[in-house]
Amino acid sequence: MAARKAPDWEALRAHARRLGARTLSAQLAADPSRATDFSLDVGALHANFARQGYDREARAALFAAAEAARLPQAFRALFDGETVNASERRPALHTALRSDLGHGPVAKAARGQALDARQRMAAMVAELEASDITDIINVGIGGSDLGPRLAVDALAEFRTGRFRVHFLNNVDASGVHRLLPGLDPARTAVVLASKSFGTQETLLNGGIVRDWLAGRGRLYAVTSATERAAAFGVAPERVLPIWDWVGGRYSLWSSVGFAVALALGNANFDQLLAGAAQMDAHVLAQAPPTNLAAWHALTMVWNRNARGLGSHAILPYDQRLALLPDYLQQLVMESLGKNVGAGGEPLAESTVPVLWGGTGTNSQHSFFQALHQGSDDVPADLLGVVRPAHGYGESQQWVLANLLAQSESLANGHAGEDAQRHYPGGRPNTLVLLDQLTPASLGALLAMYEHSVYAASVLWGINAFDQWGVERGKVLAAGLHPALDGQGDDSAVSDPVTRALLRRIRASRGG
Ligand code: F6P
Repeated sequence: MAARKAPDWEALRAHARRLGARTLSAQLAADPSRATDFSLDVGALHANFARQGYDREARAALFAAAEAARLPQAFRALFDGETVNASERRPALHTALRSDLGHGPVAKAARGQALDARQRMAAMVAELEASDITDIINVGIGGSDLGPRLAVDALAEFRTGRFRVHFLNNVDASGVHRLLPGLDPARTAVVLASKSFGTQETLLNGGIVRDWLAGRGRLYAVTSATERAAAFGVAPERVLPIWDWVGGRYSLWSSVGFAVALALGNANFDQLLAGAAQMDAHVLAQAPPTNLAAWHALTMVWNRNARGLGSHAILPYDQRLALLPDYLQQLVMESLGKNVGAGGEPLAESTVPVLWGGTGTNSQHSFFQALHQGSDDVPADLLGVVRPAHGYGESQQWVLANLLAQSESLANGHAGEDAQRHYPGGRPNTLVLLDQLTPASLGALLAMYEHSVYAASVLWGINAFDQWGVERGKVLAAGLHPALDGQGDDSAVSDPVTRALLRRIRASRGG
């Protein structure tokens, strides 16, 4: 088997230097068929990369880099359940939750477990639909919150059940404080979503709502730590499984999606999975030049490593996708925020850009000024939905007009009559269009981003499935918790700044 080769970063940078002075509009003028040739259609998704700064030659170098890094083989390894998460010695088999494309016993066993759990979850959804429960509270954080919250919000038009679905995530009790007084515990089902069942925020909020339920309503858990859930007071028949082969930020497709299935019904949840499965089949079957996730990842790598750009904006032109930037922030930054390679070796190249964003057109009236005329180029994904779920045609025309206008203006710029009114252009952006926002198209879109993240990790040689960086803060917080108690024993606090701040907090509390 040929060895995996890291991209030739210097060669990619040489392409960027060669193209440096050429504006995006000049590139398009020289090669107008880029407008269509630099685009891909996969199911209901259309992606147009014509406003990225690479030309055909540089693009060919990117695709060659993906082949040299053995990206197609890496996709196969992912689906087959190879140990792609080296630091935790695990596979990452989120694809087995929605498609049956993995070969070998590990992938097949995962698929079997996923189908069993799916069946149990569907039965629980049906049971709750037939009950007098009116409200669902999903208690979870990170991957146990962001995906379900995005799907429930984005697909509100597909709600079938009569459930109101609420989310508690932050350790700050403002959430419970505001939510609980409006609910009847006897008619509320609580889902404690925590793969580890050790996440402090979820245990704290979970304890508050469990005590509030006081045996009325229903208490469920989604976890891989069944004994911990039992010790917490969840009846074993109300525990849905998740396994160590599903990463938290890749878990929407598992029982972590319980709240989604309750909000949208089992059939729509199945459609969400079917859309993701379509993208799975696409990424496995297509070589980099016709592989949407590969192309998307190579574009991020181009902007990050060949152009040296450290930020990336996600700009959905559809209010239903307002939570997409938050969701992708975890998916991209927790997966790719690494400064050592998969084997622990230091990396010479930059990895994840800072990912952020907000909906158009709102953000046009807040941060777009900086995107158009700020000192840094910020690459962006602009996303739009062609056919809305409403009948307000005039509004939709304006949404799409703004989407197209911004993409064009960011890329092409505009010669101004003076320096203040000059638009430099050259701001690279990818335009992603969905025909409609449906459970299936949302599933495909999110799976595309998951696979793009994985592809970027392969190119950078990092592990996309661990997150050691978040652990240290948890340890420190646990140590500081006692120091905030009445007595304020600071002897175990070694940092002088933290000690000074503790004193300040206690003074403000009058303690
Ligand atoms: O602290 C980060 C993290 O581990 C995420 O990766 C994860 O999605 C989140 O916490 C929640 O974890 P759990 O589902 O185990 O409560």
